[in-house]
Amino acid sequence: ARVDKAGHKHFMAKEIAEQPRVIGEALRHYLGAEGTDIALPDEIDFTKLDRLTMVACGTAFYACLTAKYWFEQIAGMPVEVDVASEFRYREPPISDRTAALFVSQSGETADTLAALRYCQGKADQILSVVNVPESSIARESDVALPILAGVEIGVASTKAFTCQLTVLLLLALEAAKQRGRMTPERLADLTSHMRALPTVLNAALDEDAAMQACATGLAEAQDVLFLGRGLMYPLALEGALKLKEISYIHAEAYASGELKHGPIALIDRNVPVVVFAPRDSLFEKSVSNMQEVMAREGKVLLISDAAGAKDAAADAWKTITMPAIDPVLAPIVYAIPAQLLAYHTAVAKGTDVDQPRNLAKSVTVE
Ligand code: G6P
Repeated sequence: ARVDKAGHKHFMAKEIAEQPRVIGEALRHYLGAEGTDIALPDEIDFTKLDRLTMVACGTAFYACLTAKYWFEQIAGMPVEVDVASEFRYREPPISDRTAALFVSQSGETADTLAALRYCQGKADQILSVVNVPESSIARESDVALPILAGVEIGVASTKAFTCQLTVLLLLALEAAKQRGRMTPERLADLTSHMRALPTVLNAALDEDAAMQACATGLAEAQDVLFLGRGLMYPLALEGALKLKEISYIHAEAYASGELKHGPIALIDRNVPVVVFAPRDSLFEKSVSNMQEVMAREGKVLLISDAAGAKDAAADAWKTITMPAIDPVLAPIVYAIPAQLLAYHTAVAKGTDVDQPRNLAKSVTVE
C-alpha cells in the first residue's frame, strides 16, 4: 500500500504522531488486554543464559543501550552492547550460554547482518528485533520479534525506536519473570503502566508547541550538548543523533556524571544544554550537574516532569514538562521531546527533514 503523509508536512512528523497508535498495537500483540503474560515464542528461555550480547547500528544501537540498563537492573542479566561495525571485526569470544540479539528497523543493515553471521554457531541462540519480518536479519535469526511500527519513511528513525524500546522492555520483563527477579505485584504494576503508554505518549505530544518554541532558540546554535543519567543517558545519545542528522547542528551527548571530565570546558552562553531528568532516584545528581552548567552561563533546556520542574526549573533557560511516569518507562516517553526538538529545529533551519544530506534510510553496504 502507498504510504502518504496523512496531512503532515513531513513523514517524520507523521511518524512521530503515530507513536501512541503503533505502540498500542505492539502492546496488544505482546501483552493483550489484561494480565501479565507476555506473548513470546517458547524458545526464548532466559534461565539457561549467562549473558546477552546486543548489536546494532545508529538509533537501533541506542535502543540496545537502553535495554542494557533494563536487563541489568530488572532482570539481573549481564548485557554487552556494541555497534555492529566494531563488533564484527573485534573477534569477541561468545560463550554457548549467550544469546545474541540484533536490533534493526530495516533488517538489512550490512554490518548488523555480518555481526549476526559471526554469532551463528557460537551463541546459544540468535534473536532479532526487527520492523521488516521478511528481512535478511529476521530470516537468519532463530527467533525474530516484530516491532509492528509499520512502514517508516523518514530517514531519521522515530517510531521504530520507541517500538524497539517497547519490545525490548517486554523482553526484559520476561527475563525478570523467568529468572525470578520480580514480584508479581511489580510486574502487574509495570505491565499496567505499559498499557497506559498510548495515553501518556499523547500527553507528551501535547508539548509540541512548547518544543517548537525551544527549537527556534536551538536553530541559532553551533553546538548543542545533551545530558542524561541512567536510562536517560542512551536517550541523550539518541537526542543528539536526531539533532545532528536532520538539522546539521553539531550535537553530542554525555552521561551527566562525565560532564566534569571534558565537556564542561565547552560551556558558555552560546551552548544550549538539553538535560533529560525525570524526578527519579538520580534526579538530585542531574540537578547539580545542571547547576554546574548554569554557573558557566550555559543555557539549560530542562526536560522533566511536573515534580522535577517544580524543584529545578528556576534558573533553566526553558523547561518542558512531561507527564509523570514510572522511571522504568521514561525512555519511551522522553523520546518524544527528543524527536520533536530535532524536528522543529530542522524545520526552523529549512533542511530536508525526511531526506537529510549524505544519509540513507538503510545502509546495505559497508
Ligand atoms: C541508518 C539510518 C538510521 C538507522 C540505522 C540502522 O543510519 O539512517 O535511522 O538507525 O541506519 O538501521 P537499521 O535498519 O539497522 O535499524
